[in-house]
Amino acid sequence: MDVETAIRTRRTHKAFRPEPVPREQLDELFELARWAPNHHLTIPWRFRVLGPGALARLKEAAGPENAGKLDRAPTLVVCSCRLSGDPVADEEDLHATAVAAYIVLLAAHARGLGGYWRTPAVLRTPEGRAAVGLPDDERFVGLLHLGRAIGEKPPPERPPVSETVTYLD
Ligand SMILES: Cc1cc2nc3c(=O)[nH]c(=O)nc-3n(C[C@H](O)[C@H](O)[C@H](O)COP(=O)(O)O)c2cc1C
Repeated sequence: MDVETAIRTRRTHKAFRPEPVPREQLDELFELARWAPNHHLTIPWRFRVLGPGALARLKEAAGPENAGKLDRAPTLVVCSCRLSGDPVADEEDLHATAVAAYIVLLAAHARGLGGYWRTPAVLRTPEGRAAVGLPDDERFVGLLHLGRAIGEKPPPERPPVSETVTYLD
């Protein structure tokens, strides 16, 4: 799949088949994420693939009302950004981490996988962070859901390009 097609056809999927993404394929995605641009080559992104124990702890932290949503995808990856404490560097590192997360989703799509970037509230709580081993110097960025998607998703409406672009004199 060429890059333009991948960018246009990637969709957020919320229903998946039960088979987890094989580790070798996950490693390919994380290797591609290494190529995200990042200022001063700080390599700020971190990925944690949840195993059964971590998932159980996260569901416990989420509570009965929210635990079910964590069962949607067979493979969950916590994406976080390591912060240095310098405000400018941290802002730039967060941007770079978002790019790395997008690379994972785009590369997954190019391999026929579905993805979903989710930001569940539990990962903003001390209990949720502890459940997946997020240290104090890492900012939660996204819980990436990966797997074989069920069904097709139509692309959501996008505003015309003119609304978001200005050519200055
Ligand atoms: C930073 C970020 C956080 C997101 N968090 C959520 C979320 O918590 N729940 C959700 O349903 N979608 C979430 N999304 C996915 C967007 O809703 C989705 O990308 C958008 O609807 C466009 O659909 P598409 O990805 O199919 O183009 C998030 C996306 C980003 C970039």
